[in-house]
Amino acid sequence: MTEPAEAALHILRARGVLAPVATAIILGTGLGPLADEALNAIAIPFADLPGFPRSGVSGHAGRLVIGDVAGARVALCQGRAHYYERGDARAMAAPLDTLKALGVTTLLLTNACGGLREDWPPGSLVALSDHINYSGMDPLIGVAADTRFVSMTNAYDPALRARLSRAARSAGVPLKEGVYMWFSGPSFETPAEIRMARILGADLVGMSTVPEVILARHLGLRVAAISMITNFGAGMGGSSPSHGETKEVAARGGAALKALVRAFLKTTDEA
Ligand code: HPA
Repeated sequence: MTEPAEAALHILRARGVLAPVATAIILGTGLGPLADEALNAIAIPFADLPGFPRSGVSGHAGRLVIGDVAGARVALCQGRAHYYERGDARAMAAPLDTLKALGVTTLLLTNACGGLREDWPPGSLVALSDHINYSGMDPLIGVAADTRFVSMTNAYDPALRARLSRAARSAGVPLKEGVYMWFSGPSFETPAEIRMARILGADLVGMSTVPEVILARHLGLRVAAISMITNFGAGMGGSSPSHGETKEVAARGGAALKALVRAFLKTTDEA
């Protein structure tokens, strides 16, 4: 365990987080309100936890909430740090180390993203099947051990993806599967970059998630991710994405995402 994670765990214990938590969820832009539904919740501001980010992105609350959602005890990160805030691909390393120390084995990531397929309108939910790291960054650069050579085959756990698709059916929430391409941001893509991303096989573009997936796989966590499309990629049908639009559409689509996550928490690997 890293030192910040040990210190953060100590604080969580002191605040009453005593039992292990198996599942963690990271809530992206506009998707934070899911954490408000947690029952018997213990909420700790990131600012109180060593190594946790001081997120400066509007639409991100910056709290760790441990509580019951759909009958499961879960850890919810209400907000995240992005590479583009400080140029640090390891911005979420301490939170993930801490979650692992807390007992987490399954990580569900959510994000708001741009959609590249004309038949996937804003508001669509997409489970990630794979990603393309177009940033050139990797959070494991500098890790001085052979553990850094992490396999990224099946990074998005096939059994968890099957659970997500069962959960979507039972909740009556349409869910697609697609490939997410990570651009560093914070500027949005150009229309030419969006055309390139489509040619290269991406279905979605966004500025988060991928470094967290790499860090989580390095920790041996099982990973699943759900993207909420908030806009068409730049230039598609004249689209010119904005952060305001991202927050607004994500908030409007929040109910479907909540229903999907609740149903997911009720499923198991077997059935
Ligand atoms: N591009 C990158 N990130 C995003 C977008 C987008 O179009 N929409 C929401 N997050």
